[in-house]
Amino acid sequence: MIVETNLSYRERFACRRVAENYLFRPPYSPEVFSTLLGLISLSSRTVLDVGCGPGKIALGLVNHVKRVDAIDASIEMLNVAKRLSGAATSKIRWIDATMEQAPLDPPYGLIVAGLSIHWMDLDRVLTRFAEAVVNGACLALLGPDFPVDAPWEADETAFMVDFLAERSIVDGRSAGKTVAQRLVEPILVHPDYRPIGHKVTEPIQFSQSIADYLRGQHSRPSWSEDHLGEKASREFDSEMTKLLTRYAVDGMLTFAVQTRIEWGHVGSGESCDAEARDTRIRRSRNNFLASETAEGRES
Ligand SMILES: C[S@@+](CC[C@H](N)C(=O)[O-])C[C@H]1O[C@@H](n2cnc3c(N)ncnc32)[C@H](O)[C@@H]1O
Repeated sequence: MIVETNLSYRERFACRRVAENYLFRPPYSPEVFSTLLGLISLSSRTVLDVGCGPGKIALGLVNHVKRVDAIDASIEMLNVAKRLSGAATSKIRWIDATMEQAPLDPPYGLIVAGLSIHWMDLDRVLTRFAEAVVNGACLALLGPDFPVDAPWEADETAFMVDFLAERSIVDGRSAGKTVAQRLVEPILVHPDYRPIGHKVTEPIQFSQSIADYLRGQHSRPSWSEDHLGEKASREFDSEMTKLLTRYAVDGMLTFAVQTRIEWGHVGSGESCDAEARDTRIRRSRNNFLASETAEGRES
């Protein structure tokens, strides 16, 4: 028997448990935020965060910009976001809508799509982006948030493939590529998007308990508890706990996190001066790290 979920991939983000589990995914490093700040146009310090989820990007940028419009199609994601520290500021507009239809308040000096662009109707949203940015402003895309070169990666992937096959669960994941390989691949290839730069951030180390790591996994569409069902979710947790225990120290998993960031132009806007932008990225890194340390956020 083939089990086909009645939840589309996008609908899986609408589930409350997926949204609540999202907070257990690895964080973005300070380098991600300083790079994004360096990409913001000098003509508008307003940012559009599309598919914002629980607001990691909006909340990380808001103290350094004029305002952020944060859009997500899942009200559950926005509910989680709004409960987080700093989310009540009038500088963030939390917008419950699809990017294809959301009310916008342009012009934006940067549009950011963190792990979200592939869920959208590209022809429609890229046209909307082009109409909403100031001349020369960039669309920035962030790549996968899986552990990089984790010692358990090969075992985990083999387990996951078998787990789905044994239950005949239909899954559209791209198999066969390691996380490190995915980091060097373009996130978006589309005639209306002209890439102009990219980087892979330096690794940061992140530690969490096996239970928290599994909650992070359940925030991913393939491993959503509402998609798998209660029985398969319990089996997944139990088998994964056995597998991961071999790699844990005092119950904790430690792994490297890196992010691919790429940026480019949408529509027919002017190109920004690449050298000036690179200088801004460098300056913004120093300013961002200094201000985060002053606010006691640096761990
Ligand atoms: C993997 S999460 C990314 C969350 C966040 N940007 C981050 O970097 O952690 C993808 C998000 O995109 C949202 N999403 C998917 N399709 C969307 C669309 N067409 N319009 C708006 N949001 C969408 C989902 O609801 C989900 O919250």
